Amino acid sequence: MTDRTAPTAHPISAIMAERWSPRAFDEARAVSEAELASLLEAARWAASCFNEQPWVFCVARRDANPAEFATLLSCLSENNQGWATRAGALVFGLARQSFAANGNANVMANYDLGQAVAQLALQATAMGLVTHQMRGFDVEKSRVALNVPAGTEPMVAIAIGHRAEASILPEALAAREVAPRARKPPAEFVRLGGF
Ligand SMILES: Cc1cc2nc3c(=O)[nH]c(=O)nc-3n(C[C@H](O)[C@H](O)[C@H](O)COP(=O)(O)O)c2cc1C
Repeated sequence: MTDRTAPTAHPISAIMAERWSPRAFDEARAVSEAELASLLEAARWAASCFNEQPWVFCVARRDANPAEFATLLSCLSENNQGWATRAGALVFGLARQSFAANGNANVMANYDLGQAVAQLALQATAMGLVTHQMRGFDVEKSRVALNVPAGTEPMVAIAIGHRAEASILPEALAAREVAPRARKPPAEFVRLGGF
């Protein structure tokens, strides 16, 4: 399979260079309960503002929880459903928008969820799994389907599984699967001392 390691401008840990977001998932390979538990454990140990840990994860493994998997899948956009249906597991990441102790707004909640998801994704890479985050889902539909309480925001869906050959995808998506990986150069986002 095509090497997707990032062509970094400076050395970084392999695990970060090797994380990427494929759409070709191997339908024949499941994500085990233990694997999913490790991914959620990685998320659990993320830093968060006041150690609030505002994240909530709604999870389903395709083989073990087909009904729940179908529910999560149904919330995705049609495009994302097309390939995410072959993932071994789907996870929705949500963030509670206020502090449990005093009800004050937690403006860092979504930021903290993002850090937890980043840790989940890197843990997956370390375990030979792949992840693909998605905002392409119907937020209102997910609120109903996942029975999300008021004050908690569905932010992201994550497909998790094992990588497959790009050739299993329709042509346009297969091409994206092997296209060069690109990022802005550091000079575009690093400012010495400020703007
Ligand atoms: C919050 C977020 C939302 C995303 N939403 C989608 C999506 O709905 N569909 C999709 O195919 N990719 C989605 N992506 C994947 C990005 O396009 C991908 O991460 C980006 O192109 C960088 O590629 P890489 O992850 O392989 O390095 C999303 C990524 C993030 C972090």
